[in-house]
Amino acid sequence: MGPGDLARVLCDLKLVKNENLLVGLESGDDAGVVRLTDEIALIQTVDFFTPIADDPYLFGQIAAANALSDVYAMGGRPLCAMNIVCFPKKDMEISILTDVLKGGLSKIHEADAVLVGGHSIEDRELKYGLSVTGVVHPQEVLTNRGAQALDALVLTKPLGTGIIATAVKGDMATDESQEVSIASMTALNRKAAEALEGLSVHACTDVTGFGLIGHLAEMIQDSDVGAVIRSADVPILPSVEEYCNLGLLPGGLHRNRDFRAGMVELGASVPRHLQDALHDPQTSGGLLVALPSEEAQKLLSGLDATIIGGVVLDHPGKILVR
Ligand code: CO
Ligand code: CO
Ligand code: CO
Repeated sequence: MGPGDLARVLCDLKLVKNENLLVGLESGDDAGVVRLTDEIALIQTVDFFTPIADDPYLFGQIAAANALSDVYAMGGRPLCAMNIVCFPKKDMEISILTDVLKGGLSKIHEADAVLVGGHSIEDRELKYGLSVTGVVHPQEVLTNRGAQALDALVLTKPLGTGIIATAVKGDMATDESQEVSIASMTALNRKAAEALEGLSVHACTDVTGFGLIGHLAEMIQDSDVGAVIRSADVPILPSVEEYCNLGLLPGGLHRNRDFRAGMVELGASVPRHLQDALHDPQTSGGLLVALPSEEAQKLLSGLDATIIGGVVLDHPGKILVR
């Protein structure tokens, strides 16, 4: 399915109104949020996919970090998680599944959350992920909407995990690029989320399958602001430039580019590999945050993150890449 297909299916669902539903399906946000009391809201999210790494333990870590990230992207704290497993038991050693689950559990524990259950079915292909439940103060929910003119845009992880995964599949990836990419994908967004506490954040999301531009587009579409990306400032993983020049691009990258073509104005001097990286589908990517410049400076003093551009009034609903 392309980026727009699922949204169209969801349009056909008749949803009921509930005053305690703080974030629902409408805005394509990272997770749902329901108010329990004036002090506590529940965050719920689910994510699972096929292996992105050869090593089952690392795959488990990546899938869990990716699922937990949606709670962090809402400004929340994960409480508990459930395993979701599809397993080809006729064709695969059960010890592989054990390693996947161990990897996932290590990230659940690193997040100070607990594993409370799960569900598995037999399937032709291994798939793994988590449903995660978290909490947040109802007044401190971060959503992907609300970016304001003059905000800085901050990105907390480099781009290129999809391009590197494609190079790995083609047996073209260097050990260094694989290791750095896996380290990035297994890293929790916990530190980034905690660094946002107490700052006045206008919008936040995590960068995953739609790529940086796709998730930024969700942030500004149908709003009265636009965005500028300074491509030279966007951090990318090692060897991504080389893999792009070799044409090692995931299929999702092209779909992402086509889907958002109408919203993007590309400067003539933007190097080809950066154009690609901005649309690269990320697994367990970083947080993308819109917040006032002085708040961004405070954020950067305690976190390894980068200001990659800003929010502007000039061209509402458009992303200018220069
Ligand atoms: Co997300
Ligand atoms: Co998600
Ligand atoms: Co069951």
